[in-house]
Amino acid sequence: MNTNDYLRLLPKTELHCHFASTMSAAQLIAFADREGVVLPTTDPALLFNFTDLADFLEAFRAAHQVLTTADDFAQVAYDGVRAAVAAGSVRYREYAINPQYFAPRGIGYREILDPIIDGLRAAQTDLGVGFRIVVAINRHDSPADAVQLVETMVANPLPEVVALGQDDLTPELTEDPARFADAYALARRHGLRTTAHAGERHLDSAENVRVALDVLKVDRVDHGYMIVEDPELTERARESQIPFAATPLSTTICSGWTLDHNHRIAQMVRAGLNVSFSTDDALFFRTDMAREFQEAIPAFGLDLDDAKNIALAGIDGAFCDDDEKRSMRAQFTAQIAALDAALADTPTSR
Ligand code: HPA
Ligand code: ZN
Repeated sequence: MNTNDYLRLLPKTELHCHFASTMSAAQLIAFADREGVVLPTTDPALLFNFTDLADFLEAFRAAHQVLTTADDFAQVAYDGVRAAVAAGSVRYREYAINPQYFAPRGIGYREILDPIIDGLRAAQTDLGVGFRIVVAINRHDSPADAVQLVETMVANPLPEVVALGQDDLTPELTEDPARFADAYALARRHGLRTTAHAGERHLDSAENVRVALDVLKVDRVDHGYMIVEDPELTERARESQIPFAATPLSTTICSGWTLDHNHRIAQMVRAGLNVSFSTDDALFFRTDMAREFQEAIPAFGLDLDDAKNIALAGIDGAFCDDDEKRSMRAQFTAQIAALDAALADTPTSR
């Protein structure tokens, strides 16, 4: 076993994963063909070249136009789990699902969520991968739409739907987390957990992370990289151990950052923040959980102990029950011990 095998086989959670991006390229192209959605090209090698986050979001929105039937949702859900297990030893995943992308085509909340949950439950039975769902506010839409979305969540309680998040960008191409403060307050009043994409790009700010923490009162931060520009806020995050769901490869595309020792995620890890890794949008960024660890760990100047801590941090940051976390921790610890033994037994690793 070499370190690449080790990092691929390391048991992982994935907390920051957009459902539409768990589609395969073949599914995207076939569904687009069926729905008459015109993609810029059908060559997968060319389909996923983006200049920045806003450019990527156009393709991401188009991907939501191709999912229509209950079978589409259930099939993508099930197949996506199988692919994630095979590629990167994913054992638990949280999905961001943005119902507002589907609303213009008249596809309702339960029409999306029920078949996705069916597919994910079937995958859990067959493959042992637990899951929860984060319903994401579409920042392109209004604060009133966001409140209405939370009202829909509250009126349709589903055991797997445990949290509110926010994604896309505002019409001004900003994050502006405070815009959705009312929706977050309502979600919290109803016992939902919360997260938010904040401080993702150099165009964003540590202030957005502060707003997510202090105004939205999030339980977790998606991205959050710009926090390192504010040492005092970074120290607060270290003390509180608020979880950050970081997505290394996406930063090379959405922000044009290089994976190196000075990368903001590397700085966050060195500062002692609670950081886990995810893919964000595996299909579009041509990544998987193995690749995130295999590329980012050495490029960030981190070692296998850091990789293990990052894998275990995904359990701390998860929105599942404490019993499930305890059982995952025991499983991960045993599997990591077996991997450590296998690596130590490999002559070339000495
Ligand atoms: N940022 C904002 N919205 C998104 C992203 C992201 O990285 N991925 C999918 N939707
Ligand atoms: Zn995201």
